[in-house]
Amino acid sequence: MAQLWGGRFTKDTDQLVYNFNASISFDQKFYKQDIEGSIAHVTMLGRQGILTGEEMNEIIRTLKEIRADVDAGKLPITEEYEDIHSFVEANLIDRLGDTGKKLHTGRSRNDQVALDMRLYTRQEVLDTDALLKNLLKELLVIMEENTETIMPGFTHLQKAQPVTLAHHVGAYFEMFKRDRGRLHDIYERMNYCPLGAGALAGTTYPLDRELTAELLGFYGPTLNSMDSVSDRDYLIEFLSALATVMMHLSRFCEEIIIWNSNEYQFVEIDDAYSTGSSIMPQKKNPDIAELVRGKTGRVYGALNAILTTMKGLPLAYNKDMQEDKELTFDAIDTVKGCLALFCGMISTMKFNRKIMKKSANNGFTNATDAADYLVNHGVPFRDAHGIVGRIVLYCIEKDMAIDDMSLEELKAISPVFEEDIYDAISMETCVNKRLTIGAPGKEAMERVIALEKDYLENN
Ligand code: ARG
Repeated sequence: MAQLWGGRFTKDTDQLVYNFNASISFDQKFYKQDIEGSIAHVTMLGRQGILTGEEMNEIIRTLKEIRADVDAGKLPITEEYEDIHSFVEANLIDRLGDTGKKLHTGRSRNDQVALDMRLYTRQEVLDTDALLKNLLKELLVIMEENTETIMPGFTHLQKAQPVTLAHHVGAYFEMFKRDRGRLHDIYERMNYCPLGAGALAGTTYPLDRELTAELLGFYGPTLNSMDSVSDRDYLIEFLSALATVMMHLSRFCEEIIIWNSNEYQFVEIDDAYSTGSSIMPQKKNPDIAELVRGKTGRVYGALNAILTTMKGLPLAYNKDMQEDKELTFDAIDTVKGCLALFCGMISTMKFNRKIMKKSANNGFTNATDAADYLVNHGVPFRDAHGIVGRIVLYCIEKDMAIDDMSLEELKAISPVFEEDIYDAISMETCVNKRLTIGAPGKEAMERVIALEKDYLENN
């Protein structure tokens, strides 16, 4: 049991207490950030004359050696240390003796861990953003290829009006684009350096906090030392953004599961992204989509857990906050894994265009357009709505589509109908006359695709 704080104690920690308290099993995940932070701290101590130039150089050189040894697997991070901070410091002292003992001058594990976690998370915000960008690129390919792929649009999971696959996928493009925006906002707000806050009240050493902030790529130092060591808002914001990503993914997954079902057959998930059944030989299951949908609960759980952990905590640091790590790491790894797999699944998925079109044809998705036709010929909308309602009833009885009715049949219900009704309610017309920006018409969609391309090039 290697501890940094034995001086004041007369008894060893109970083994169970030690195990319960220790964080090395998970905070080793940011050993690189811990060392990076220490290098910046020591560089600053040297420049401020708090350490000699020689001490500074020796410590930095040895910290780099430790990092290289851990990277190469030559120095295993073992559970005999309480946390990653103790591990690094103990190894430094092993290698450097008394000089190593100067590393922690003007620093506390409270500002150290606040820094490490922020450095780690900051990179993860960028990595998640890169995965989202890949997904958007994939979605844009599907959109470009499917501006004429007609499918039913749904409300209440009932066929409503025809749209195109480009338009449907474009809805998700917007969602994931907003997710990226959220990550960007979080980055801007979190990118301030807590190092130098000490345990809670700063230190009496003449630390240069601007310098360490700059060395570590932050916009500047945080402005209140008590807040610096007890702020976990940025994690809550990040987990909230991740939960929203998962919410979007789970909705898309749900649709893919429906589309891939025997009844719909709008899509076929590639063999490489499906699994079989141990008993039913015919089965090809959309497990990946289901698992992504399922893992959403886990990420929501992390957000709830950290909100609950932080609730009512008095200032400043409390050990409760150690709980932030496993939750955050798990949520990040989950979301990154889901994004990568989801991207692979949709890029290999086949779209059954004929079946989509047929489904749009068979679901009275042009009923609104039939009513609009009557309105354009002078019938008030409410009356037109009633007439088309009767037409739909007639078709259901005869098991036919509106387009299949003869002009005589149509005229029997309303004399306003003429031969041009068929063109007016064809799926192509229904979609392509919807040309306001954001609507599914091909030209409107092409304008949006150009905007999205531009967005991807510049963001
Ligand atoms: N493992 C601790 C954490 O994750 C590091 C900070 C420890 N500070 C302390 N005062 N015990 O929060």
